[in-house]
Amino acid sequence: MEKQRIDKFLSNQLLLSRNEIRTGIKKGYAAVNGNISKDFSQIIDPRKDEITYCGKKVDYKKYVYIMLNKPAGVLSASSDKNRKTVLDLVPGSLRRKGLSVVGRLDKDTTGLLLMTDDGGFAHKCISPKSKIEKSYIVELDCDINADIIGLFKKGVVLADGYKCRPAVLQKLENRIVRVIITEGKYHQIKRMFGAVSIGVNRLHRERIGSLCLPENLASGECVEVEQEVLKQFF
Ligand code: URA
Repeated sequence: MEKQRIDKFLSNQLLLSRNEIRTGIKKGYAAVNGNISKDFSQIIDPRKDEITYCGKKVDYKKYVYIMLNKPAGVLSASSDKNRKTVLDLVPGSLRRKGLSVVGRLDKDTTGLLLMTDDGGFAHKCISPKSKIEKSYIVELDCDINADIIGLFKKGVVLADGYKCRPAVLQKLENRIVRVIITEGKYHQIKRMFGAVSIGVNRLHRERIGSLCLPENLASGECVEVEQEVLKQFF
């Protein structure tokens, strides 16, 4: 990241408007390498200079990656006029311009949802070529049998004629199953079960690639994942 004006840097990293930041800088909230800077046009080098705002170090991160334990009833969209979206659950400290969802979940689906402002990463994740595994726990309206497991293994044909990639279907309990797919078509899990005349009562994503939803991440809570950590999982 190249040298830039301190007001631009702080505005991007803290998601405050340029005007808010300039006011703060004039009041002496910003410091460069320990020296208060009241000049909002000062050029800084984010790779070398230590920048603080209100006494807190502002680390430069090109991108942010967030894992959310999505609750039911919240839309997987960046914004909506009237309804609550997953972006509303992201704490201010992690909010960025351009933050968007990587692979949507239906409004009633719960579990692991990734968000990032790294468009390249998002694209790789959702590209049909990527074949990244997604694992779901599904509560069904009836039990499954060996024939259905076999059909999933071969590739279920959806109502519109699309043949899904082979999927793993494991029975966990009566009417509770795990499904592992390597693609992400619209309503895919519900349509796969629809194709064998089974209804989905509840759907929960537990894993993407080898990134699992942490057990201690409560419903509706977010946690940041460092880029280096994330790379190990994909
Ligand atoms: N498949 C679905 O049908 N819904 C989801 O939210 C995710 C996968």
